[in-house]
Amino acid sequence: METAAGPFQGFAVRKHGKIHGFVDRCPHMGLPLAWKPHAYLTPRADFMMCSRHGALFTIEDGRCVGGPCVGYALARWPLEICDGWVVTL
Ligand code: FES
Repeated sequence: METAAGPFQGFAVRKHGKIHGFVDRCPHMGLPLAWKPHAYLTPRADFMMCSRHGALFTIEDGRCVGGPCVGYALARWPLEICDGWVVTL
């Protein structure tokens, strides 16, 4: 998908059977979160983490709860699971 800012980049995290989608852009500096493919979670998989400066985000709503952008949030990418497939809304 192409946007005015370039190709759309997002990621999805499944937690407790729910799917949560986010735009892959840290609110701190606008950079992608992962330093390598699929590396969006902390080692215990309890938060999403920006690899650049360590911001931590809740999986349920993308709120930053640690690091340089506390109080900001990842932009949501609305997704749902339909017949076993992840689909955009
Ligand atoms: S760019 Fe994500 S914490 Fe700095």
